[in-house]
Amino acid sequence: MSAVGVGVIGAGVISDTYLTNLTSFPDVEVLVVGDLDVDRARDRATKHGVPAWGTADDVLAHPDVQVVVNLTIPAVHVEVSSAAIAAGKHVWTEKPLGLDRAGTAQLLRDAEAAGLRVGSAPDTVLGPGFQSAKRAILDGVIGQPLFAQASFQTQGPDLWHPSPQFLFAQGAGPLLDIGPYYLTALISLLGPVDRVAAVGARPRPQRKIHTGPDAGTAFDVEVPTTMQVLAAFEGGAQAQGQFSFDSALERQGVLEIHGTEGSIVLPDPNMFDGASRYVQPLGVLRDGASTNQPWIDVPQEGAVVGRGLGLLDMVRAIAEGRPHIATGELGYHVLDVMLSAEESAAGAGFVTVESTLSAPVPTVPVDFDPFTRVL
Ligand SMILES: NC(=O)c1ccc[n+]([C@@H]2O[C@H](COP(=O)([O-])OP(=O)(O)OC[C@H]3O[C@@H](n4cnc5c(N)ncnc54)[C@H](O)[C@@H]3O)[C@@H](O)[C@H]2O)c1
Repeated sequence: MSAVGVGVIGAGVISDTYLTNLTSFPDVEVLVVGDLDVDRARDRATKHGVPAWGTADDVLAHPDVQVVVNLTIPAVHVEVSSAAIAAGKHVWTEKPLGLDRAGTAQLLRDAEAAGLRVGSAPDTVLGPGFQSAKRAILDGVIGQPLFAQASFQTQGPDLWHPSPQFLFAQGAGPLLDIGPYYLTALISLLGPVDRVAAVGARPRPQRKIHTGPDAGTAFDVEVPTTMQVLAAFEGGAQAQGQFSFDSALERQGVLEIHGTEGSIVLPDPNMFDGASRYVQPLGVLRDGASTNQPWIDVPQEGAVVGRGLGLLDMVRAIAEGRPHIATGELGYHVLDVMLSAEESAAGAGFVTVESTLSAPVPTVPVDFDPFTRVL
């Protein structure tokens, strides 16, 4: 079998990272880059040695493209992914999978009916940092997980993104833009969420671009930029998370899980690698143990890569006839949890999350090697 043909739609900020990684994986071959802005597509393609560029339709019409990588803005994720499915291509999409339940569920039904796969970012949960922590938790180092804390608070991405408007529009804000990293990690460990409650605020109805050619331009903020979320998992665990673009104090990457036998601090779920460590036993909960136990480091195992890992797992899973890890089903459940939190913040009280997962999220084998040809 030859390398799997990939077409990228969306040649913006994150496409550079994707193209750097995808062009280094021998199992895939990037054949074409498409964008509304064809000059931008050409620049990205030529920078990364991709032989063709054009519009989104040019990507969909390419006969050798088997998988479309959707790196457009959230508002058109479903539209672009659905067009790819209609063209007979598998889809890997950036997060969130969609913006509303009905359209996103229809995308997944269409893909299933066509026998095509949908994979959804974030794929940071496939990285060696998170996976090493997950293996330690599955090995029982903290016992039965009981509760978790997640925290992401910054001044906001308008500081560094040259066109940040979409990050403050429907489908983004700190919850839908950043929440997927934390929620996908938590759901991968603790299983599906049963119900959520949340409060939200939008203290600055207008923000300003701070970098790039449009610096100084003001734009409207459509969504809450600070959210506090409380989640109860089907399996009995509980979590609290805060997501803010309004904080002078930067505190991001906080993800902790506390169990019957110990507590673990995970790496930043927005990163592919990073250290984790745990402490056990909890002295006051165990007869005779000191409360001053030393931290135990979790050795990080597995190849360090980055964005594109989820797509690579998906194309290998297709060839091997196994489920992939970052599925559309998982992306949909994460979206459903976030929309339920938004509804709660808008006054709905506790909201029952209707979707669930049909199986636990699989773990990445330690010897998964992106740089060795397996197809
Ligand atoms: N920027 C980051 O650091 C980052 C990190 C992780 C994930 N993401 C995700 O990646 C996605 C893209 O983010 P970005 O920062 O690259 O955005 P961006 O605005 O820089 O780029 C988006 C690109 O998509 C193109 N586009 C929009 N609609 C299109 C359509 N219908 N057909 C073809 N092209 C279209 C735009 O012209 C633009 O070039 C988002 O979902 C975002 O959440 C971004």
